[in-house]
Amino acid sequence: MSDEKKAKKEEKAKKKEAASLPSVKPNPKGNVKRIGMLTSGGDCQALNATMRGVVKSLVSILGQDHLEIYGFLEGYKGLIYSNFRMLTSKDFSGILTLGGTILGTSRTPFKLMREPDENGLDKVEAMKHTYYKLGLDCLVILGGNGTHKTAHLLSEEGLNVITLPKTIDNDLWGTDITFGFQSAVDIATDAIDYIHTTAASHSRVFIVEVMGHRVGWLTLNAGIAGGADIVLIPEIPYDIEKVCEAINKRKARGHGFTIIAVAEGAISKEDAALSKKELKAKQKKAKHTSVSFELAEKIQEMTGQEVRITIPGHMQRGGSPNAYDRVLSTRLGAAAAEAIMDEDYGCMIGIQERETVRVPLTEVAGKLKMIQPDARIIREAELTGISFGV
Ligand code: F6P
Repeated sequence: MSDEKKAKKEEKAKKKEAASLPSVKPNPKGNVKRIGMLTSGGDCQALNATMRGVVKSLVSILGQDHLEIYGFLEGYKGLIYSNFRMLTSKDFSGILTLGGTILGTSRTPFKLMREPDENGLDKVEAMKHTYYKLGLDCLVILGGNGTHKTAHLLSEEGLNVITLPKTIDNDLWGTDITFGFQSAVDIATDAIDYIHTTAASHSRVFIVEVMGHRVGWLTLNAGIAGGADIVLIPEIPYDIEKVCEAINKRKARGHGFTIIAVAEGAISKEDAALSKKELKAKQKKAKHTSVSFELAEKIQEMTGQEVRITIPGHMQRGGSPNAYDRVLSTRLGAAAAEAIMDEDYGCMIGIQERETVRVPLTEVAGKLKMIQPDARIIREAELTGISFGV
């Protein structure tokens, strides 16, 4: 039998086993804490640092012999198909500065969770079976928006769940800041800094496209930190005339170059006025793969200036967490361990006004934290000369 066939057969057997497992009460061995852990969605810099924070704290409270850690591989997939590794505190040693995730991750869309997989497996039931089969006390789930919807679903299904707010987008409700965000701001800022010298030498317009499909936190912060002249974010639809006006004004004042920080999800006023259906249809027909190219074409046409595009892309999620994120994730991890000890489940550990807090998942799931167009930070950025294209 070929390796591929063998792997397929094994996977099928695993799925069958997961689907047929009996439900038993969690953790029959009351003296041991059994924690399942997974990272889901896009990765970011401080996932390992956060897991380390949880495990180190649990070990210091419980002692190593009273802790079992089940690391589910590649996000919810690991929980669905009972694919896990038993981990010890050693696995979490030396990973404070390590980017990515030692557990691997994947995107398992929430909208597909209630749909059976290609073999007819009920994913939600399979996750519950894995949980009960292993006699887990709780699941520690690290992820962003989509991940939180599924975590909430599992909590409503009766599993003990504690979540931790991960995303470079910083768009999770219930926490002032998510881990990964500040590290990504550093990288996007570096990109703008590098562009600055070349832009100034060539007298061109430079567009730096920053991650963030639905929110502009990363673009706004990197834009301010990098001294961008124009910042375009999804929350403030731009007027192309105003964008060009800002470029021309700079030129008239003797600045030959302009730097535009644009979020992946930045949108023009015209497009923002379309219905979801109309916008989708328009995007399907669009000749450009990202907002930057459309913008560049229009700016070139309307101002006659040369335009160049830089897209740092997934670099923004890569490398080591910065010092801020290391502190944040260590604190969040420790606070999660405390919540586990208090058996206070169904919550996300967030940070509000510099203190760690437990926020009910019902308040977090399905809500986006967006920038308010009338926020002080927008006004302050405008006062220092940044144009939002409006
Ligand atoms: O959610 C984090 C994020 O990095 C977004 O900023 C970006 O739009 C998206 O993920 C990219 O997703 P993927 O890694 O699946 O291409």
